[in-house]
Amino acid sequence: MHIFIRDVAGHVGGSVTVKGWLYNSRSSGSLAFLELRDGTGFIQAVVAKDSVSPETWQAAGSLTQESSLAVTGIVSAHPKKINVFELQATEIAIIGLAQEYPIAHKEHGPEFLMDNRHLWLRSKRQWAILRIRDAVETAIHDFLHEENFVRTDSPIFTPNACEGTTTLFSVPYFDLGEAYLSQSGQLYIEAAIASVGRCYDFGPVFRAEKSKTKRHLTEFWMMDAEAAFVGHEENLKIQEGLVKAIVRRVLEKCSPELAVLERDAAPLQAVLEQAFTRFTYDEAVAKLQQMGSDIKYGEDLGNDDESLLTEDSPVPVFIEKWPRTIKPFYMRIDPENGARVLNDDLIGIEGSGEIIGGSERENDFDLLLSRIRAEGLPESEYAWYLDLRRYGSVPHAGFGIGLERMVRWMAGVEHIRECIPFPRTINRLRP
Ligand code: 4AD
Repeated sequence: MHIFIRDVAGHVGGSVTVKGWLYNSRSSGSLAFLELRDGTGFIQAVVAKDSVSPETWQAAGSLTQESSLAVTGIVSAHPKKINVFELQATEIAIIGLAQEYPIAHKEHGPEFLMDNRHLWLRSKRQWAILRIRDAVETAIHDFLHEENFVRTDSPIFTPNACEGTTTLFSVPYFDLGEAYLSQSGQLYIEAAIASVGRCYDFGPVFRAEKSKTKRHLTEFWMMDAEAAFVGHEENLKIQEGLVKAIVRRVLEKCSPELAVLERDAAPLQAVLEQAFTRFTYDEAVAKLQQMGSDIKYGEDLGNDDESLLTEDSPVPVFIEKWPRTIKPFYMRIDPENGARVLNDDLIGIEGSGEIIGGSERENDFDLLLSRIRAEGLPESEYAWYLDLRRYGSVPHAGFGIGLERMVRWMAGVEHIRECIPFPRTINRLRP
């Protein structure tokens, strides 16, 4: 019977077949130890020369790293380790004998590994990160559905900018001129809330940012959420609930993966235990200046500022109410301070940086139009967006979470390029 390695505990004493790849192997005299992986986990198959046919013994000896195979054997509990199982092999069928595998079980440089990303994905470390990514995505979908959000996806080809014109990728679009790759689906889901009330999109977005940091990709996955009749305060609550739901899911479902990554789960557990910290932008800048940062009022926070601000915090930190001059046109102006907008950036702990950007939206037609004009944006391209304020405009708010930033934090990985299967950065387009 074919089983998945993750289900092996229920088959002790039984004969099963595992199909997968050879991760590693060693032999000592008349015993061969094959470490197999099938995507759900890893298991050691023990092949004893005296207990198998000469063909199977020979097959065990000829297997190369990353060959694909099916191993049939009896499941046994590891003699010393709890919850570890082995396969006492009775038969081996080689499916695809691998040529000499370029990635050996030793240190390789990052460029070599990135050039071989299509193969590197098979390593235990990348396996663990891919699975954590999946858990983060699933947690996002589940949480939002529980909160009455409906998935309504946004287009990738767009005629206008969402997040400023400096980071747009353009592509020729037939006779219609230039199209831009979406930076965020937000404007489109703002339209969809008038149909379904609360909605979200989840897909790739693009930023032609010349940043070479460990937190920037040119193509990354964003989940934009938007909700009608939600203001700034409730927006923050939803974001905190979402982040906690993701952390909870990773802790519940990904212990083997966290162990592979040697990721200490204690700081993640602590995130669940108290409310997130809140600073206004003004408070944050004052605090940073006290701490020795040379940031000035009116400037964006740098990576170092974000790390400094969260250094001693056990929980992520909201920085709210930023100067309108450095934020996009669609953010609602704070009725209590016309120089500020009702927005937030959520900064993760452990050096993870900004993971969410969100705001209440400007829902007044005249104010929105004046801001589009003030920013010199092409008014005609935003006519449909302005319509949303013409026909039954409602207070509404939303936010966008960067999937890879969240995965990077959960997995405790230093570089964001490991948090997406095939990263695109300023200097990498292949494979
Ligand atoms: O703060 P941002 O630019 O917000 C928006 O795009 C809004 N329209 C979202 C919304 O309100 N619906 O981006 C949101 C998040 C950031 O907090 C960060 O996590 C991630 O997207 N992000 C990046 N991730 C990887 N590489 C980059 N170059 C990123 N730029 C932003």
